[in-house]
Amino acid sequence: MTDKYAVIGNPISHSKSPQIHTMFARQTGQDISYEAILAPLDGFAATVERLRKEGYKGCNVTVPFKFEAFKIASNYGFEVMDAVESGHEADAVNTLLFKDNKIGGYNTDGTGLVNDIEKNFKIPLKGKRILLIGAGGAAAGVLHPLLEASQSPLAIYNRTLEKAEGLIKKVTQHEKFRLVSIKPVEFGKLGSEQFDIVINATSAGLTDSELPLPATIFAPGALAYDMMYGRETPFMKFARANGAAIVSDGLGMLVEQAAESFFIWRGVRPDTAPVISALRKLQ
Ligand code: ATR
Repeated sequence: MTDKYAVIGNPISHSKSPQIHTMFARQTGQDISYEAILAPLDGFAATVERLRKEGYKGCNVTVPFKFEAFKIASNYGFEVMDAVESGHEADAVNTLLFKDNKIGGYNTDGTGLVNDIEKNFKIPLKGKRILLIGAGGAAAGVLHPLLEASQSPLAIYNRTLEKAEGLIKKVTQHEKFRLVSIKPVEFGKLGSEQFDIVINATSAGLTDSELPLPATIFAPGALAYDMMYGRETPFMKFARANGAAIVSDGLGMLVEQAAESFFIWRGVRPDTAPVISALRKLQ
C-alpha cells in the first residue's frame, strides 16, 4: 500500500518538496505519495490531526508552522529530537513522524546544511573559522549541528545584537559546547578578522538588502553560503566580488534536509546529487 506524506505550510505553492520527495521515491523504489497542503494560519493542529486520522505516516512543516509543530510533537510525549537535537535551539521542527499513536518531531535543516557543505562541497567543517550571519529562526535551526561538526570558534553577526547573545546563551547550555568559543559581533564591527566559512542565515536577501561586511572577510579558499535559494542575493554578489573561492545558494541544503526527512520516515538514504542537479536545471 502506498504510504502518504505531505508538506504543510502557508503559503505552500512555491514548495519544491513534492518534486524532491517524488524524485527520492522513484530513485529508491519506495512506494509513497507526497503532496503540498495549504493549512489556514489557525489550522495547523487540525490539519495534522486530519492527516494522522487518514493514515499519513508523516509530514514536513514549513513557514510559519515550525514552532507549532515543535509544541505539538512535545505534547505528544514523543521525544523531540534529531541526530543532534537541533530542534531545541530553534524550538522548531520541520519533520513530523506519525508512529504508534505518537508524533516525533525533528529538525533536519542543520543536518541539511552540514551535509551540503561537507558532502557536496567536500569541505570538512572541523576546525573551520565560521561566521554565522543572522540570529532568527533559520540561524537557530542550524547552529547546533554546525558547532557539532566544526568544534571550533564561531562568531554570530546579527543586526540585533541581543538576539545573537540570546542564541549563544541557549546553545552554550549544552555541556559539550561549554568550552567552544562562540562570540556575538555587533553590526558594523567585524574588523579585519577572516573566516573560512561565511553563512548568511538572514532574510535580508528577500528584500535585496546589503549586509555590512568588510571586503577582507573571506579567508583564502573561503566558502560563502546563502541559505536562501532561487536568486542571487546581494550577499552572494558581494562574496563573488570580494574573493570567496566558492559561492553557493541554499538549494543543496534544501535537498539535503529533505533527504534527512526521507531517511527518518523510510530508513533509506536517497542519492541527493542527481536531485540537486535536476532542480538546478529547472531554476
Ligand atoms: P528566519 O526564520 O528567516 O530566520 P526571522 O526569525 O524573522 O526569520 O529572522 C530574520 C533574520 O534576518 C534576523 O537575524 C534578522 O535580523 P534581526 O534579528 O536584527 O531582525 C535578519 N534580517 C532580516 N532583514 C535584514 C536586513 N535587511 N539586514 C540585516 N539583517 C536582516
